[in-house]
Amino acid sequence: MGVPAARIVFDENDRATVAEAVSEMLATGALTLGPWTERFEQSFAAEHGATHAVAVASGTAALEIVLRGLDVRDRDVVVPAVTFYATAGAILHAGGRPVFADVDPATLALGPDTLEAALTPDTAAVVLVHIGGLITPEVDALRAICDARGIPLVEDAAHAHGSSYLGRAAGTFGTAGAFSFYPTKVTTSGEGGMILTESAELRDEARIHRDQGKGSFTTNHHVRLGASWRMSEPNAAIGTVHLRRLKEFVETRRRVAQRYDAALGALDGLTPVLEPAGSRGNYYKYVALLPPGTDRAAFKRAVAEEYDVRLSGEVYDLPLHLQPVLAPYRREALPIAEDVCARQICLPVHSDMTEDETELVIEAVSAVHRRSTG
Ligand SMILES: Cc1ncc(COP(=O)(O)O)c(C=O)c1O
Repeated sequence: MGVPAARIVFDENDRATVAEAVSEMLATGALTLGPWTERFEQSFAAEHGATHAVAVASGTAALEIVLRGLDVRDRDVVVPAVTFYATAGAILHAGGRPVFADVDPATLALGPDTLEAALTPDTAAVVLVHIGGLITPEVDALRAICDARGIPLVEDAAHAHGSSYLGRAAGTFGTAGAFSFYPTKVTTSGEGGMILTESAELRDEARIHRDQGKGSFTTNHHVRLGASWRMSEPNAAIGTVHLRRLKEFVETRRRVAQRYDAALGALDGLTPVLEPAGSRGNYYKYVALLPPGTDRAAFKRAVAEEYDVRLSGEVYDLPLHLQPVLAPYRREALPIAEDVCARQICLPVHSDMTEDETELVIEAVSAVHRRSTG
């Protein structure tokens, strides 16, 4: 049977709806900044209880636009070392300087202490990343630290479609939230990104930035250093159709995660990152830490070769401060980030995962783990 690392789920009905929408837009020629983009923005905002949404070309563009809107040029931006390269890339492209912070091992996110340690007199913004779709229960404490200093908190919610903490959705905890619709994300538009914000001013800035910095759609007066960051209408139609399945997808993913929690709980030394009280994640990733010293590559290879179970990509295997291209911004060792990046594995979670697949993953991981520690 085997279990792939990722599976993108569009059923026949959803594929037909997208095909019909694309056929219509090809007939009308409304291929960018049209009705599907608006529909996607409205439904994504409603799904997350947010006031404004601006659809853009990618999650990276969403982050860069927010940071440009906040104007971080020549100033420091705090970013957890445990995140995807794009979080730091967006800071640099917006003209800011990334300051890498360590993380809380319980959530893989910034903690109050690690944030405080990374703040400088010139911090222009703080980016909180919801790794694997888990929102840290410290989110209000982090916001309070930022508020006390007048520093905007930005959420990199690329992983966190539909995740919540105490009933509040990802993307609504700070000044703005940036989402990605890259194909492996919990919902996808093919490529794409979304900005959520309560600020009408930031929404307007985002709309200007995404369309080459033009002051308005119909003029050629460029008032900001924007770029070609629009979302195309076909992408918006795919995203809108997929979003309708978000709740069901998250339910399925959570059921898989609960089964993994129970099974891994019975294994000595393999430590899942468990959901803290009040946090309701979408399980974009299910992360567990191998015992120190385990050869991760050999572990993954054994699971794949013996059981045809492919573990999904880590989040992440190398922290930002150790990424070669970010070396100029490296300041110090960040021991927790280094440890959790070196030891984590991600068990596959699919939005239509079957019980048989879930049990096969458990069998594979348990057997290889027992052998490698036995
Ligand atoms: C944490 C994080 N931030 C930002 C991005 C960038 O999103 P995109 O690939 O849509 O540009 C991604 C994902 O791909 C991500 O995982």
